Amino acid sequence: MTHATAHSPDAPLDASATIDGAEWWRSAVIYQIYPRSFADANGDGIGDLRGITSRLDALKHLGIDAIWLSPFFASPQKDAGYDVADYRAVDPLFGTLDDFDEMTQAAHTRGIRVIVDLVPNHSSDQHEWFQQALAAQPGSPERARYMFRDGRGPNGDTAPNNWESIFGGPAWTRIVDDDGTPGQWYLHLFDSSQPDFDWSNADVRAMFRDVLRFWLDRGVDGFRIDVAHGLVKADGLPDYTPPQSAGSMGGTGKADADLPPYFGQDGVHEIYREWHQVLTEYDGERVLCAEAWVDPLSTMALWVRPDEMQQAFNFPYLETPWNGPALRAVIDESIAAFSAVGAPSTWVLSNHDVVRHASRLALTEDNPQGHGIGPKTTDRPDTELGLRRARAASALMLALPGGAYLYQGEELGLPEAIDLPDDARQDPTWFRTHGTRYGRDGCRVPLPWEPGAPAYGFSETGASWLPQPADWDAYARASQLGDPASTLEFYSRALWLRATHQLGLGALEWHDAGDDSILWFANGPVTVVANTGDSDAATPTSLIEATRILTSVPLSGDDVIPADTTVWYLTP
Ligand code: GLC
Ligand code: CA
Repeated sequence: MTHATAHSPDAPLDASATIDGAEWWRSAVIYQIYPRSFADANGDGIGDLRGITSRLDALKHLGIDAIWLSPFFASPQKDAGYDVADYRAVDPLFGTLDDFDEMTQAAHTRGIRVIVDLVPNHSSDQHEWFQQALAAQPGSPERARYMFRDGRGPNGDTAPNNWESIFGGPAWTRIVDDDGTPGQWYLHLFDSSQPDFDWSNADVRAMFRDVLRFWLDRGVDGFRIDVAHGLVKADGLPDYTPPQSAGSMGGTGKADADLPPYFGQDGVHEIYREWHQVLTEYDGERVLCAEAWVDPLSTMALWVRPDEMQQAFNFPYLETPWNGPALRAVIDESIAAFSAVGAPSTWVLSNHDVVRHASRLALTEDNPQGHGIGPKTTDRPDTELGLRRARAASALMLALPGGAYLYQGEELGLPEAIDLPDDARQDPTWFRTHGTRYGRDGCRVPLPWEPGAPAYGFSETGASWLPQPADWDAYARASQLGDPASTLEFYSRALWLRATHQLGLGALEWHDAGDDSILWFANGPVTVVANTGDSDAATPTSLIEATRILTSVPLSGDDVIPADTTVWYLTP
């Protein structure tokens, strides 16, 4: 049965319908829009859906295949919209459902697919179900939709277990009953305003199937699934102490999966198999993309088995430093792990949760994910080196077979905004750790569009929910457009070449440069050399005469590939 008729994609999308094994998402470049920071149409300082619609031509020009929008649903915005109060409503901050339909239509007309964010691990504490649960008794069906437990100890005043919130502090909050006495505790892996659902509950399962259909009926091409490794918790909720070195999103960096009792439990896969079925009721190739911070890659690949999701963000790749042997190892491991289940790797270097890679790749000290950097960070990244490495890293990523996600602003070479004043910060991480972790605001600053304009053209009034650095004129899109040396033109060229040579559907063949800081491989007719070392490398002899089609920075001669540079050659 097919539900999608009225809102099904327009002609340009249907025309790109593919043969088996070449579905669009296997090779797509998907651009993440962080709606509150993309473009603000009504001047209140918060980006909105009409702002997105008005700027779609810029994305078309960039050459992306799809957009993924971080949440724009009704929400008290305690975690920038990842605290959803109504999964079927647009928050008035961002516009209306009509604005959403118009944006989707405008994207589809341009051949751009639309992916929305689904947040199933938790809702907002303002969701009507949580409010009903608070008003109901322990043991009631209302409480059963969330993870309410009695406390430990004689008066129940110790949390049910020792779990900590990903944002810092305890993962349990005790409620106060109507008569003013302390009541049960509820679990929140994130902020206390984000209570975790109980996924063994049939109401929860049914509600999310309906939510999927609600957005599929409106014509969306897929969903990015928030905390797709969460949802199911181990029976008995056993105590757990994370290893010291763990990234705050739960990556262990270990060779064997050693997952906390709240991540990566077997039961999650059954849920995604159910959702896979829901998607197949619709025409076209609709997708689910997992945000699953699990190691190793062979464990992550479980999320993209043929009857589950289509994509999973390759976070081990994102977390790999700019280092030849480490990159080669993670690329090989990725391709092996994902192809073992018939899935592409989905490469990514930046998103709204990590330090932008134009800054991250120049950090020399360990910076656990989610901690961020700020005015007191001693290891301040060198801006020029960071951008140079970021461009080299992006050129490497975009030459790899598989899909790729870009995060808004990386095509402008934006660095992390380090010097945000304390009183501007909004990430719950900052508050829950009493300022010991800066959190993620530095990668969420509104985009610069025009140099010299109020708020760099983000909003006409000059309002901006986070202050933009004073020196961003040169990063503005309009400053870079048409300048062949700019980061923007470098990205558009890379995307155009990637599409022309079908690199996303290709296969990788390594060459040995005799120096492990040099990555050298062919993908179909394109040969790529990346120098991750800190000195010049001689161009491999066989490539000196080859046509250079892309360089991550302008080069003067053919004989040398300088440090932190990636070059693409045509080697038909
Ligand atoms: C995901 C989101 C992050 C959010 C968290 C809780 O990791 O990407 O931004 O804070 O989930 O929903
Ligand atoms: Ca606005």
